[in-house]
Amino acid sequence: MKKLIIDGGFPLGGSVKLQGAKNSALPILAATILCDGECCIDSCPRLSDCDASMDIIRYLGRGVRREDNCVIIGDGSISRYDIPESLMREMRSSIIFLGALIAKTGHASVSFPGGCELGPRPIDLHISAFRQMGVTVSENHGLIDCTVRGKLKGATISLPFPSVGATENIILAAVTAKGTTVISNAAREPEITDLVCFLVNCGARICGAGESTITIEGVERLDGTYHRIIPDRIEAVTYMSAVAASGGSAELRGAVPEHLRAVVPIFEEMGCNIVSHDGIIRLTAPKRLGAVKYIRTMPYPGFPTDAQAIVMAVATVCGGTSIFVETIFSGRYRHVDELRRMGANIKIEDRVAIVEGVNSLSGTSVDSTDLRGGAALIVAALAAEGRTEISSVHHIDRGYENIENKLSSMGAKIKRV
Ligand code: EPZ
Repeated sequence: MKKLIIDGGFPLGGSVKLQGAKNSALPILAATILCDGECCIDSCPRLSDCDASMDIIRYLGRGVRREDNCVIIGDGSISRYDIPESLMREMRSSIIFLGALIAKTGHASVSFPGGCELGPRPIDLHISAFRQMGVTVSENHGLIDCTVRGKLKGATISLPFPSVGATENIILAAVTAKGTTVISNAAREPEITDLVCFLVNCGARICGAGESTITIEGVERLDGTYHRIIPDRIEAVTYMSAVAASGGSAELRGAVPEHLRAVVPIFEEMGCNIVSHDGIIRLTAPKRLGAVKYIRTMPYPGFPTDAQAIVMAVATVCGGTSIFVETIFSGRYRHVDELRRMGANIKIEDRVAIVEGVNSLSGTSVDSTDLRGGAALIVAALAAEGRTEISSVHHIDRGYENIENKLSSMGAKIKRV
């Protein structure tokens, strides 16, 4: 069982280059099975979730290889329509293959995605949208079987919630459907816009990405293309939090300030000085961080739920009381118990977390509960006095490329054992 050992109390400095966005790479890798030509996905991060997607694409019949930062998906036909349980279990978000698989082969049979550490992960919005597009969906014994006779039909789909995954799956089902699909109350995350940019470069006809209404006009076929993935905004928040919590001053290279509009004011409220120019963000922490009055997670462009645990780790050592409201996932406070083990003072009332800042945290042994919860423990350990051992590091490796090397290069005392 891999562990990260961190000795806290060393302010971070220097600079770090951001990886390609995990939550953009995953839907784009799924989208490549729709293309008839070779695809080159540049800045594809080296993450276990991306490896899992590559395994699925290989299983479905396409050649996949990594060349430096690029993942090359060879042309060739998709010869299967099922994704075995073992591969589905490897990555919960493999449900993103459903839309593309149905569109490409007229059939998809996948196991119900395992719940995950954030509480239930229903896919009812995905399924009801597919039914509106003419797909017959049956669910039994944990298996989802989808079939469509002939082509998928364009439809007008109104989402009760701007679900990121449902928006992506509908787009992937609609790009080669017969007719036009309109999604209202679509998710507006930058990763959706990046997916649409990839698809349009392959010949798709889509407008409205980044807005609440997206219109997709079905086309006959898609070619392959070259695409560079956008920088990972949640990785950016993670390093900003690490620098703030450790009392340092450092630069993030490759950040897109526009993607961080809801996050930067929070760090400024804590007393950090943030300057951004030409894709570089420099964050300098104050002597003593101030509390954040109120953080409410919302769909983009609001404060991202993926940043909640990470910024909460910083809030545990701020002077004063910070309030968090998690409105997106019901089970996204599992990192709180682990932070409490380090001396954090946090009260949970249903979706509300009240964080009383303490003078310092103390290093101890803690366990990563999920991807962003694990990142929160790293941030807390960098601020803590003494040594922290973080176990279940595989959660962290799903979303962070090379995290111990990047942090070491910024002056952190961290090693993987
Ligand atoms: C994506 O998950 C991201 N994952 C998540 O990032 C992110 O937290 C989430 O969007 C919200 O921004 C990827 O992009 C791979 P949703 P997704 O569908 O698509 C409910 C990380 O840490 N819902 O927007 O699963 C759902 O239960 C991961 O990188 C339904 O009720 O998120 C949740 O409460 C974690 N029915 C809410 O919507 C559905 O059919 C948001 O889910 C679908 C979703």
